[in-house]
Amino acid sequence: MRFIYFFIVVLLFGCKRDPKIEPVLPSDQLKEIIPAGWPQPAYTFSSNTISESKFILGRALFYETLLSKDNTISCASCHQNFAAFANAGHDRSHGINDIFGKRNAPGIFNVTWHTSFMHDGGINNIEVQPLGPMTNPIEMGEDINNVIGKLQASAKYRSLFSNAYGDDEVTSQRLLRSMAQFMGMMYSYNSKYDQY
Ligand code: HEC
Repeated sequence: MRFIYFFIVVLLFGCKRDPKIEPVLPSDQLKEIIPAGWPQPAYTFSSNTISESKFILGRALFYETLLSKDNTISCASCHQNFAAFANAGHDRSHGINDIFGKRNAPGIFNVTWHTSFMHDGGINNIEVQPLGPMTNPIEMGEDINNVIGKLQASAKYRSLFSNAYGDDEVTSQRLLRSMAQFMGMMYSYNSKYDQY
């Protein structure tokens, strides 16, 4: 009998609808958020002024397979947005030519507070972090100069860089800073988990 009561309670309260997540800010007013009681982030946007067009460029680059040698793998191939940007369904992530890496992709959120990245802390700044996977032979296996060449040849990216920076020149600094904006503004503090 007790079990049945328990079952009814679970049925009544266990299936509550997901709370609706409202956008925190209108997309044209993006800014850094430091939730109350959190420490100062390690990365500052002081020399990387936030704008919607840079964020949009960073997001496009995160999902862009041109960043890999054979144009098949993007950052999002391993960092999947439905899994908090971790790699679901794999023990270890695989990159170009289906090569398995040694580790699985961790989630990406609150990264501006991190003082070291990767399991062994090999990279210490979110702004240079994308160079690691882009040039890692078992992840994207590409050369930054080739990436820049491919993006410069693309009308879509000339337009996105132009919107973000006022002219269509693709440089590694612009690429890395816009990706830092996209990744740096993924916060966990307003997650469904927190709302429960
Ligand atoms: C082949 C799969 C794969 C691809 C592609 C990939 N990553 Fe990762 N990423 C990983 C793995 C695995 C780790 C953990 C590696 C480690 O700890 O040494 C990682 C770690 C990270 C971290 C550090 C997270 C933390 O908390 O330390 C960030 C940020 C990140 N990747 C961003 C990117 C970006 C940006 C790209 C695209 C330029 C990218 N990744 C492409 C698999 C991948």
